[in-house]
Amino acid sequence: MNKKVNLENYQEFFNKEYLMGPNSLRLLEEMLRKYPLTAGSRVMDLGCGRGITSLFLTKEAGVTVFATDLWISATENARSFEAWGVSDMVIPVHADANDLPYAEEYFDAVVSIDAFHYFVTCKEEFKKMVLPYLKKGGVAVIAIPGLKKELTGKAAEAFMEWVGGDQKDYDSFKTRQQWLGILGRDEGYEVVMDFDLDCFEEAWEDWFQSGHEYGSKDKEFFARGMDEYLSFVGLVIRRK
Ligand SMILES: C[S@@+](CC[C@H](N)C(=O)[O-])C[C@H]1O[C@@H](n2cnc3c(N)ncnc32)[C@H](O)[C@@H]1O
Repeated sequence: MNKKVNLENYQEFFNKEYLMGPNSLRLLEEMLRKYPLTAGSRVMDLGCGRGITSLFLTKEAGVTVFATDLWISATENARSFEAWGVSDMVIPVHADANDLPYAEEYFDAVVSIDAFHYFVTCKEEFKKMVLPYLKKGGVAVIAIPGLKKELTGKAAEAFMEWVGGDQKDYDSFKTRQQWLGILGRDEGYEVVMDFDLDCFEEAWEDWFQSGHEYGSKDKEFFARGMDEYLSFVGLVIRRK
């Protein structure tokens, strides 16, 4: 898939019932346009939430998906995949990224949209939680909420307030350069693409309009000028 998908077709999911943050389908659509996956591939959707990214992956890229999540149960996602008519192609799995139930070198790709920053904070974690499950030559396609520039002064204070004083949450927002610094060079993999996503504003706007109470809180935060700092970082990493 490298054509632009008409996201109007997915409008029914742009609400608080399915969105868990900035519109993950816009983020995924842009990632796949920039790095198309091969139809027929076996993909792990790591941190798939309510499974809309898994639906999109199978419908638009023609891949088989292991829809893996911690907070949402496999039973809940199985019901959705059945209702959406994709249960032959999308397998729901309840698992923690710290302890995945998969065979090593099993996947052509690991996709992670708005979830990676919850479990990977350093290179060792990436090498433990993602890399082993990729075939040699397989790719990790990742979109992470992050920063355009590092936070200082009043902006840093406002940001800390937004994350409720949680230092771990605060630290999970990094610039693209910081992510490149963390993941860096390695004999086991190479970063083949890195960029800030273009759909940033639209993805957030959909979240503000979703009717979710956190969406309204986030809108107020943006109104304080924080959109000047926030970004979405896109990374594509290939296992050697
Ligand atoms: C903000 S939601 C995004 C969900 C989905 N990717 C989307 O964009 O709609 C983050 C997801 O990351 C998942 N997650 C957080 N920590 C995880 C872990 N250790 N292992 C697996 N999934 C995790 C949560 O279960 C949650 O569904």
